Order: sequence, then C-alpha cells, then structure tokens
Amino acid sequence: MLIAAKRPRKSFDWHFGLELYWRHTFFNGASDMKYGHFDDQNREYVITQPDTPLPWINYLGCQAYFGIISNTAGGYSFYRDARLRRLTRYRYNNAPFDFGGRYVYLRDDQSGEFWSPSWQPTRHDLKDYTCRHGMGYTTIGSEYSGIQAQTRYFVPLDENLEIWQLTVTNRRPARAQLSSFACIEFCLWDAQDDATNFQRNFNTGQVEVEGGVIYHKTEYRERRNHFAYFACSEPGATFDTQREAFLGRYRGWDKPATVEAGQLTNSIAHGWSPIGAHQVKLDLAPGESRQIVFVLGYHENPIDRKFDPPGSQTINKTLVKPVIARYLNASEADAAFERLRQYWDGLLNIFQVNTPDIHTNRMVNIWNAYQCMATFNMSRSASFYESGIGRGLGFRDSNQDLLGFVHMAPARARERIIDLAATQLPTGGAYHQYQPLTKRGNNDIGGGFNDDPHWLILGVSAYLKETGDWSILDEKVPYDNEPGSEKPLYEHLQRSFRYTLARLGPHGLPLIGRADWNDCLNLNCFSDTPGQSFQTTTNKDGKVAESVFIAGLFVHAGQELAAIARHRGLASEASSYLAEAAKMESVIHEHGWDGEWFLRAYDDFGAKIGSRECEEGKIFIETNGYCVLAGIGIEDGKAAKAMTAVGEHLATKHGIVLQQPAYSKYYLNLGEISSYPPGYKENAGIFCHNNPWVIIGETRLGHGDLAHDYYSRINPSAREEISDLHRCEPYVYAQMIAGKDAPSFGEAKNSWLTGTAAWNYYAIVQWILGVRTSLDGLQIAPVIPKSWPGFTATRTFRGVVYKISIERKGEGNRIALTVDGKPIEGDIVPPPADGRKEVSVKGVLS
Ligand code: BGC
Ligand code: NOJ
Repeated sequence: MLIAAKRPRKSFDWHFGLELYWRHTFFNGASDMKYGHFDDQNREYVITQPDTPLPWINYLGCQAYFGIISNTAGGYSFYRDARLRRLTRYRYNNAPFDFGGRYVYLRDDQSGEFWSPSWQPTRHDLKDYTCRHGMGYTTIGSEYSGIQAQTRYFVPLDENLEIWQLTVTNRRPARAQLSSFACIEFCLWDAQDDATNFQRNFNTGQVEVEGGVIYHKTEYRERRNHFAYFACSEPGATFDTQREAFLGRYRGWDKPATVEAGQLTNSIAHGWSPIGAHQVKLDLAPGESRQIVFVLGYHENPIDRKFDPPGSQTINKTLVKPVIARYLNASEADAAFERLRQYWDGLLNIFQVNTPDIHTNRMVNIWNAYQCMATFNMSRSASFYESGIGRGLGFRDSNQDLLGFVHMAPARARERIIDLAATQLPTGGAYHQYQPLTKRGNNDIGGGFNDDPHWLILGVSAYLKETGDWSILDEKVPYDNEPGSEKPLYEHLQRSFRYTLARLGPHGLPLIGRADWNDCLNLNCFSDTPGQSFQTTTNKDGKVAESVFIAGLFVHAGQELAAIARHRGLASEASSYLAEAAKMESVIHEHGWDGEWFLRAYDDFGAKIGSRECEEGKIFIETNGYCVLAGIGIEDGKAAKAMTAVGEHLATKHGIVLQQPAYSKYYLNLGEISSYPPGYKENAGIFCHNNPWVIIGETRLGHGDLAHDYYSRINPSAREEISDLHRCEPYVYAQMIAGKDAPSFGEAKNSWLTGTAAWNYYAIVQWILGVRTSLDGLQIAPVIPKSWPGFTATRTFRGVVYKISIERKGEGNRIALTVDGKPIEGDIVPPPADGRKEVSVKGVLS
C-alpha cells in the first residue's frame, strides 16, 4: 500500500489548511474510510454503506440495450443511443443526488410503514444494506423490520431488455402481509428534448396496459415504430402509469401517496409524465420467500406491422409477448443470468495474472478489463458525469480505447476501426467525433485536431498485433463516408501519416490545429466571449503554433507504420517512414528540448510553452511521457533527464499532475486549459489518462520500481482506504484526481468513461508485466519491481493458451525464456508450429 489511510503531515501549511477546510465542509469532517470491499472470488465490489460520497455506479448491458445503475438503484436505461433512445428518465445534478431509478418499495400492510430495500428513495435506516456490483449486473438488498429483500438487475445477452428479480423473505416470527411496488419513470425518447421542450412533451405521453404489462408508446402513433414496456410476473397486480396519480401532488419519490396508502390506482397516462408502477401483495409465513420478476424492455416493430388490428391505434404485441413471457419466468431469468456470467468469465479469462500485489491483480483480472469494455461500449456518452446527450464517439478516444479491449472483442474492434476510418477525410485528417447511430462525422465539431489521424495508425497496429488479421488492411473504406471514395484501409494509414508532413510549422514541428491530445490547449482560439467553444472557434490562421506532443506521436506512429509496411513486404516504404520519424526526432532534439525536459508547444507568437522560461506551465507531462514512450532521447540521456524532471516537478502522492506551475489566471493565448481553477482537469489536475505514458517511459528506462509505484498511486483499488478523499468508485479509474493546487487534492472526478482505462491496462499488462502483443507473436519482457519474486499469467493469444511463469533470479530486467522446456533466443515466443493449443513459457529475470 502506497497511500496510508491516515496520512501524516509535517506541518500545518496554508495549503493543508485549505484541504482541511474542504474536507470539513464537504466531507462532514469524516475520517478516511471505506464503504465496502472487493469480493475478488465473485468478481464483485460489495458496498455496505448506502451513502457513498457519490453514486457508485455500474453498467448493465453490453450489446445494444444499456443502463447505468447506482448503488442505491438510481440510473436509467437506453437502447443504443443514450440521447435518442432513452427509455427512462434521470435527473442529472439534482439535489439530493442521484434521482430517478429502478425503484422498489415494500409496505407493511399491517402497520402501514413503507421503505425501499435499496435505501433510495426513502432512505430508511436499513439493516445489512448490501449492493454487489458485478460483471454486467447489480444486486441490491437489505433487511428492514424483519423483512429481507434484494433485487438483482441485469440485461440478458442478445435481448433488448433488463430483468429485475426481487426476492422478499419474511424473517419475522409471525406472518407478514406486505405490498411490493416497483416503478420507473419513462423518458420520452430524446433525452435532450425530454428535459427542455415542455410545451410539446407535456402533451404527447401515451401508454397502453394489457395483460398486466405497461406499454409506453409516446410518439408511436406517428414516426416511431418502437415502444418500451414494463412487465411483472404476478397476475392480478395493480398498476399506475400517470406520475401524478402515483406520487400525489407535490410529493417526491421518497413518499408516493399511493405507496403510503397501500393502493395503486390503475391510472392511464395521457400527456404529462408516463410512469410504470406495479403493486403486488404478499402474504408470507415465517421464513417464507417469494420471488417477483419485473422486465423492462424495448421493442421495434416492422413499420408495416405497427398496429393490431391494422388501421387501429393499438400496438401490435404479437412479436414482443413471447419475449416478455419468457423472461418473466424465474428459471429462464436464472438461466439468462448464468449465461451472462459465463460470457464475462470467458472475456476476462483471456488474460489473468497472479502477482504479489493484490491491487494489480484485481484491476488487471477484473475491473480494469471490465472498465475497458464499458469505455468501448459507451465511448464518452453515458455515466454519472456524461449526460448521454453530449458528444458522439471521439476519433482519438475510440482509437485509444482499442488498446484496452481489442483482446476481448477483436471482431467488434475491427468493425470500430472500419467505422472510424470511414469518417476520415481525404486530406488524412479526421472528424473529431462521429455519431454512433448514423456513423457519420460530426459537422458541429468538424476536424482540425492535428493529432487525430495518428491514433488510427496506433489503433490498427494494436489490432494487427493482437489478431494477426492482415486482411483488414485491404478492406475498402470510404473517406468521409462518400460512396465511390473507397480505398484500402492501408491507404488511410498512409494518408494519416502524410497529414502531418503537409502541416509543419516554423520550427519544422507539427502545427497544432485546434488542439492535440490536450483538447484544452487552444493555441489558435483567442476567445474572450463567454460560451464560445474553445475547440471550434478558430480566430488565428494556425500557421505558427506547433505541438511537440504531435511530433512525439508522429515519431511513434511512424515506427508502427514502418513495422506494418515491412511486414507487408514494402521495405523501402518502411525505410521512408523511419527516415521521416528520424527527421522529426532530430527536430525534437533541436527545438523540442528545454534543457531538463521536453517542451510542450510553441504558441501563436512562436513563444515556448512548457519551458523554464515560462512563468507558469513550465513543465508538462504529455511530451515528457510520450516522447520517452516513443523512445526519443533514450540514447543520449534526455529521456532519463525528462523522467527525473517529471518525478521532481509533477509527481505527487496521488499521481502525476499535468503541468506545473498551474495557471493562476486566464491566458487568452492558451485557451481552455487556463479556464480551470488551479489543480483541476487540464490545469494541473492529475489527468490519469497520461500517467501511463510516464509509467511506460519508466519501463523503457528499466525502472520497474518507479513504474509500478506511479501505477499504484492512481490505482483505484490501492486508493480504496481513502474513499472519503477519493470519493469516486474504488473499482474503476476516474479521468481526473484533483492536483496539489486544488483544495480538494486527491479527490477524483469523472469516473468510468475515460481513456485512462485503456492506457492503464496497456501500461500494466504490456509494459510492466511485459506480456506484450507484437506483429511477430507474443513478447514477454517484464519490467517489474525488484521486490517481486515473479508472477504467473495465462494469456489466450491467437487461439493459443500461453501459461506464463516468471521467476526473478537477479535484480535486472534481462529475460531468458524457455518454451515448453526449450530455451529460445530473444523475448518473442514463436507461435507453436505443430498446432498445439497450449504452450508453457518460463521466464527467468536476472
Ligand atoms: C474537457 C476536456 C475534453 C473537452 C472536449 C473540455 O471541457 O476539459 O477534457 O476533452 O472538453 O470535450
Ligand atoms: C478528454 C477527451 O475525451 C480526450 O480526447 C482528451 O485527450 C482529454 N480530454 C484531454 O484533454
């Protein structure tokens, strides 16, 4: 453990005073504590106290139907697109937090008392409150007044629905007469419109109720052919579908009038706010348990079969009814749950490791891999921080996400690559984002982020290394989705590379355009108007500001592209990429080096950014991490110097901050980076996405101890003990941890959907553990801490299971490999020639 639960302080400095104030004000002075624990055996995080500092969420669904669910059953569901097909309503940034969800109430029909077994929305003092977030499911339960109840929520594979299995057990010595209620609030599909366009949408709401199933059919009468439904396994349940009838006037979800009265009213919504609520009466003998199944789902009808009978306004339910009936059956639901577990076991078992560090093990084996799948599925659309109505899929983000999930879903990675490349522009540049439903480049934001094209090279390279599927390079892919413009994917990569060569600035470094990786370093947007976009408002001609970061990225992409070309038998083309990369490398040595570290950029006046000459923002993480990752300056000592400087100026106990000193005021020539108060986000926050670049850099220098130390500082599991400070989920990475300039130093924000997931996974697995994919096979090159006696791992790679065991015999990183008992040369395990499906690899480090 790197971070002690109680951190000793040397002196009461001004800054600590602020932190104390913050902690006292916002954390009620609570001491460092945990809110649950990991259950690694079951691949679950178990939350045992409901009032977590923030809602701690999980994802349901992994194909087309998705939901987010908090530890107190808050959250919402959608089909494919969190904005355009939102099934249920959720109120972001509400007070109290986290309202709108999959709520269950129990009512003691003898005493009239009612409560929610998931704590929200009634917030009773529950006994044994437990939320288990697992792989694609969440179970929440508790006991109250002798009644035990728990609900398991999940989305079955290959279905567009979610199942809630509510089990109620009477632990009293006497019979219990109870009512159970389950309810959701429907969203009128377009979540943006739903939250803004009330003159229309207070009039459009419509439902049908048939056979105890509530069908939400707003706009089905006109252009929609989809509807939602909420069903209950108990015949004879009563229901409500009009929110006001259910809640009563001026009441909230914590105190619905109908639940209080013990009787739903069978209301039929028309306009206003349709909801779905079911009431089931239970009469339980002592010790008796009952299970009720609820199914919430989405269904699309063929356009010409929307109504039944044809010509009526009644939903045709013939196709959906069998699906509903199937999953209302508890044993079918159990079987579907079992399949889901097997699915996740299969995915996670592709790589499993056993090291001396429990935090490494559980993140690599379970949660970091799981988070990588979430970032792939969601991109940056729906989380507690991403409202689901914002940006589409990022070109840069999605390519980087590939690094973390390609081994688990190679076919979907292939599809994603083709989709991304199809939004590339003929210039080699790229739309910064595209919309998942239309797969079209997003015109609102456009292109001109000059780092973007290179991430495609890196994404494709990661795919090739994993799969060896060279056919992808011959796949014909259009530019800007323009029919007739199709060219082999390989040509897209060539254009990506050349894009930069055609856009060099005064020092021969790449022009930055709207921004590079750091979306907030806006050197061509001198914005003084509130509300203007820092990224898309461009009021400089962009011929001066240069990015040393893109230069480093270009060198890296050039090396990767050269390796691909060489593999395709294009030796001279490969040499030309290496020559261009080498040329750029020398420009970096000449104009991108500040004496002790790599410069960050040149601004529109040609002035340095990230230099000791600057007053603020003297040193940045991005160029130092990325240049060393790309191998720049390893030979002449610059890399070592840069890493030392990062350690001295940027590293903190909570992770490595983005730059120092933080910008204390707004700089017109720098843009959004200086819009954030010091210590947050890109202004000297610990931006967890690029800490791994330094981690990889340290492994390239052979520093396993420091690499793993940096890795551990931001490892959420290693931070579990300081949950009151960290505040976000201890099982997934957050985009940012507040830096040392912020009063809330150490507080994480924006968990789940961040490039942090993929990069940390890649850094620990491929560079520290050194189980690395390469074009030629599986490479084994660990750079682990000196104190580790070794580790074992299992990796399924191109259809072969590699059983790896590494033993440390000396303190260095030299590896000697034995494959099935025979020593081999080098560190790449050749694919088994005789079609064997399992290979044993032993490595000795000295
Ligand atoms: C955030 C960045 C993000 C950008 C584009 C900014 O406000 O700070 O992290 O990349 O918006 O969405
Ligand atoms: C978040 C964006 O999604 C990512 O693309 C960007 O690199 C970082 N912010 C840094 O600005």
